[in-house]
Amino acid sequence: MVELKNITKTYNPKKANEFTALKNVSLTINDGEMTAIIGRSGAGKSTLLHILACIDNYQSGEYRIDDTLVKKLSERELARIRGEKIGMVMQDFALVEDFSALENVMLPLDFARKKKSNRRDLALGALSSVGLVELAKKPVSKLSGGQKQRVAIARAIVNEPSLILADEPTGALDTKTSAEIMDVFKRLNDEGKTIVIVTHDPNVAKQCERVVEISDGEIV
Ligand SMILES: Nc1ncnc2c1ncn2[C@@H]1O[C@H](COP(=O)(O)OP(=O)(O)O)[C@@H](O)[C@H]1O
Ligand SMILES: [Mg+2]
Repeated sequence: MVELKNITKTYNPKKANEFTALKNVSLTINDGEMTAIIGRSGAGKSTLLHILACIDNYQSGEYRIDDTLVKKLSERELARIRGEKIGMVMQDFALVEDFSALENVMLPLDFARKKKSNRRDLALGALSSVGLVELAKKPVSKLSGGQKQRVAIARAIVNEPSLILADEPTGALDTKTSAEIMDVFKRLNDEGKTIVIVTHDPNVAKQCERVVEISDGEIV
């Protein structure tokens, strides 16, 4: 379970360009839920997701993952929680273009304490679960948008996280490819993963069991 309580996030605090992107946001997401976070561009969706992913800080409020208070953690403990519990699919894929699909998916395993000899098999397993194993050796630069998104998902799940966070995962994809990517998320959810998808596509939101709307930094 993840729990945000009264989170306020201000960019550039005390400067002329100070901007409060999240105001007093409280949100609980239970294990196994599939949640969509919707809202206009600039509403604070990515900010919220980055806090859930423990890759961004906040000025006030509390964030707990499985009852662990995140702000009390050392850098080292934080890195460990990120590596073991959280898989993040970034908005622009954030893949290494001249690496192969397999090399990209192996990257997080270099940071996790996984045996070197197992890494390749784990990465191939993740690629196979997104239906891409036959393209494992292909450089990412040669893949289509939908295939890149699958690589990004495989990389997010290779450490078997319980929480998968995805930022506009279908934003750059056509309708058919979006549906295929949503099928991947639905299957992961059926397997017990907790999924949070940021989207402005009503079709994507409709496929999630829960929809949370954010407007001007507040949950509505
Ligand atoms: N690094 C940053 N510095 C300053 N302002 C930012 C930064 N990142 C986002 N913002 C601002 O915070 C607001 C929310 O951004 P974001 O969470 O990216 O919205 P969304 O993902 O819903 O489009 C926007 O007004 C954006 O301009
Ligand atoms: Mg965004």
